[in-house]
Amino acid sequence: MKRLAGKTALITGAARGIGLEFARAYAAEGARVAIADINADAARRAAAGIGAAAVAIRMDVTDEASIAAAVAEAEAALGGIDILINNAALFSASPIAEITRADFDRLFAVNVAGTLFTMQAVARRMIARGKGGKIINMASQAGRRGESLVAVYCASKAAVISLTQSAGLNLIAHGINVNAIAPGVVDGEHWDGVDAFFARYEGKAPGQKKREVGDAVPFGRMGRASDLTGMAIFLATAEADYIVAQTYNVDGGNWMS
Ligand SMILES: NC(=O)c1ccc[n+]([C@@H]2O[C@H](COP(=O)([O-])OP(=O)(O)OC[C@H]3O[C@@H](n4cnc5c(N)ncnc54)[C@H](O)[C@@H]3O)[C@@H](O)[C@H]2O)c1
Repeated sequence: MKRLAGKTALITGAARGIGLEFARAYAAEGARVAIADINADAARRAAAGIGAAAVAIRMDVTDEASIAAAVAEAEAALGGIDILINNAALFSASPIAEITRADFDRLFAVNVAGTLFTMQAVARRMIARGKGGKIINMASQAGRRGESLVAVYCASKAAVISLTQSAGLNLIAHGINVNAIAPGVVDGEHWDGVDAFFARYEGKAPGQKKREVGDAVPFGRMGRASDLTGMAIFLATAEADYIVAQTYNVDGGNWMS
């Protein structure tokens, strides 16, 4: 029996990276998924790669009208939404002295307000439907501690952990479980950008930062998006019904070390 048979999921930022891997894994477990992303072309390609179980939706999580339209579109295509993964996020890095207001506003609009108001829009529909639901927010080890050059992103992910706690406590009364996953360092296009930043900022050779962070993970390598799918599936099943307002590290031991 597939673990998500008959379920529907809306996954934000799913056109690439971890979100796309979640969409593939959910489809393989029998769910139908809405791949919602600001990059509509990439979302269409991603959905086409999965096949009939996936639909592509253009969605900008910083825009409440776009959130409302995307939720309505997902419901029209799939039926009521059982699972939401708030995965869309931006990354930035700079020393404190160089942080700009515009960069702060941009990151908090996507990572924090985007998570909150997408969660709100879907939770309202789940409450109205009366069947409960599962909401999974993408946090990060960056939300558990500050980092010298990553203040804004770290603060945004700390806010995601806090929102997960508050929403988890509030929404469980409606049978909606809100939990989060905190990855460590996961290779992909996101980390290509991080590596390029450190190459510029610390004069490292391209690829050097990735090798350093991978070597530092107790498991012995950087994470892969596929390392996270087990937790994302588990948190969406009835086996996780009693889990409320938690953030789970899935990081090869990185945070513990
Ligand atoms: N890769 C890592 O090492 C790592 C580590 C910890 C946490 N995370 C978190 O996991 C999640 C996925 O990471 P990833 O590495 O796959 O990122 P990614 O940058 O590869 O993908 C992010 C996706 O979000 C989309 N997006 C950006 N702004 C959007 C908006 N306004 N509305 C809708 N979609 C938007 C992008 O188009 C992209 O498809 C993020 O929340 C990230 O912070 C990643």
